[in-house]
Amino acid sequence: MSSQEKRLAGEAAIRYVEKGAIIGVGTGSTVAFFIDALADLRDQIQGAVSSSEQSTAQLKKYGIPVLDLNATGPLNIYIDGADECDPQRRLIKGGGAALTREKIIAEASAKFVCIIDSNKRVDVLGTFPLPIEVIPMARSLIGREIVKRGGQPVWRDGVTTDNGNWIIDVHGWQIADPIALEKDLNQLPGVVSVGLFARRPADVVLIGDRLMD
Ligand code: 5RP
Repeated sequence: MSSQEKRLAGEAAIRYVEKGAIIGVGTGSTVAFFIDALADLRDQIQGAVSSSEQSTAQLKKYGIPVLDLNATGPLNIYIDGADECDPQRRLIKGGGAALTREKIIAEASAKFVCIIDSNKRVDVLGTFPLPIEVIPMARSLIGREIVKRGGQPVWRDGVTTDNGNWIIDVHGWQIADPIALEKDLNQLPGVVSVGLFARRPADVVLIGDRLMD
């Protein structure tokens, strides 16, 4: 069911792709369905800005040009998945460790279309452990700061991000005020990015092929 909804969402997102556009492309199994569908339109778009080595490889496999965000400037559209989504379209992301580049592309894009299956829809964010990308030498420092804030930090041992950093997954937080927590964590030295997309939420959410209210 969940995989079927991911495929429907990935395919439905194609309706946001305009002729001649440069598409911001996220990461994950739902986005992989979107890239599969995008392959049919490869001759009608200029290319894509990719959020990960994984998505870059899939885009290149289909012959879709992968462009540098510094060269493209702002984008009209960004398509990406999420690990959780609340009623205000605020998200937890980073299950695939690509949160930093995803956040950069979301910020650079006029419209962020988030594609999820219904299991990702929650009332309060935090059941999915919150990923935080950190500079390796700051892992313990940041872990202690998380404990002070009532969270349980777990190092995603063995995972190095595309930027050469590490991931801490924070368990045990029911996130009542995602904007405040995002701001607070962003200020800790050594935090590269927080997997809360609250200050810049999604603009549109597709659950399968249905638009979320
Ligand atoms: C990667 C992400 C993904 O969007 C998120 O983990 C959802 O992945 P999937 O579509 O495989 O369920 O944030 O960093």
